Amino acid sequence: RASLARRASQILRENDRGAYTVPTKGLYPFQWNWDSCLTALGFAAFDEDRAWREMETLFAHQWPDGMVPHIIFHQDDDGYFPGPDVWQTGRSVPTSGITQPAVAGFAARRIFERSKDKAASAARVRSLVQKIDRWHAFLYSARDPRGEGLVAIIHPWESGRDNAIDWDEPFQRVPSEGIAPYRRRDVDHADPAHRPTKEQYDRYLWLLEHFRRHEWDNEVLHDLSPFRVVDPGFNAILIRSCADLAALAEELGAKKVASANRARAKKGLKALERLWSERHGQYLCLDRTTESLIDSPSVGGLIAVFAAVSEARAGAIGARITEMAERCCYVVPSHDPADPRFDAKRYWRGPAWLIVNYLISDGLAAAGMDAVAETIRASSLQLIEKGGFAEYYDPLTGEPCGGDRFTWTAAMVLEFLR
Ligand code: DGY
Repeated sequence: RASLARRASQILRENDRGAYTVPTKGLYPFQWNWDSCLTALGFAAFDEDRAWREMETLFAHQWPDGMVPHIIFHQDDDGYFPGPDVWQTGRSVPTSGITQPAVAGFAARRIFERSKDKAASAARVRSLVQKIDRWHAFLYSARDPRGEGLVAIIHPWESGRDNAIDWDEPFQRVPSEGIAPYRRRDVDHADPAHRPTKEQYDRYLWLLEHFRRHEWDNEVLHDLSPFRVVDPGFNAILIRSCADLAALAEELGAKKVASANRARAKKGLKALERLWSERHGQYLCLDRTTESLIDSPSVGGLIAVFAAVSEARAGAIGARITEMAERCCYVVPSHDPADPRFDAKRYWRGPAWLIVNYLISDGLAAAGMDAVAETIRASSLQLIEKGGFAEYYDPLTGEPCGGDRFTWTAAMVLEFLR
């Protein structure tokens, strides 16, 4: 255990670029949004100051409209595609033009709660709280323009689950003609069989170019995007962050932020019920352009337990995971292995991810389901012991996939070892 923790901290140090951390050398050479917030939890285990700095750096690049971009291109690196020349968002330090799961509210509260130097932490977290609040306000206005209580993602990269089976159906409406010729770089660093396909990349880029033509104006992008999907995972993370931000703001005496976020969490949690599927015993994605649920039992619908869903829902999600644990060796697969579309090694179409395991086990533990939470934790640590600190793992064999010496995997190990 001590040696696992040591190895994990070493990976964080190795990928530390001073004020931000790269997810892994080569494949991801910049700062990623939710990677950073989850990585901050890992830093907090041995360097609180560095944990706050990780999040402060991210929020220093918040857009005037409140959006926190998914990539901050702190330095040039032509080993990654699509880079700043493709995004063209016009920021002084270049950033991408879309966002990622809003896990910052949760991370900030957790780090603050455990903080050994409360006074110093309070001083730093105070300004973060205001910025996170602005991000939440952005999401509930720009991505929920009709005030339904559920935000949509307008690009699969926003979900963090880039090539999930969830997007296959809505992706049929995204064209791929007319995009500029490009060369992928991800497949120089990772096995192409573990990565998204060319057909998917073409559509990722079509959407990017479409938004760029509309000058990244978030007032119009939601309605103009042929891809508008309500992801239970994305929403649950946001709902949890709203609730956590409310609690944190309350403690700091920021009353307005507290009440606004309490209201958002309450409304979001109620609206989330629209995504419940009795047949699957889990939440599903909703295609906002057709208003129908997408028949794809992915881990997005299990991450929902990270928000304080009812006991019945948490129980059903716990049962799904227990059942999957009996069928495959390692949990939690990112897609139900019983579905013929399941692909054990391909990124978000089957592999298990430690960050997801962490969010789900945290939600289950909060719902009092300690045994399933412990199954997930044990599985996670077995994967590490067997395959090292990989980006993700084949849930049937435990084989490490994607990039290696991965920052947020290491950070989650530090959390699981607490
Ligand atoms: C990638 O490039 O694979 C990322 O997931 C997009 O952020």
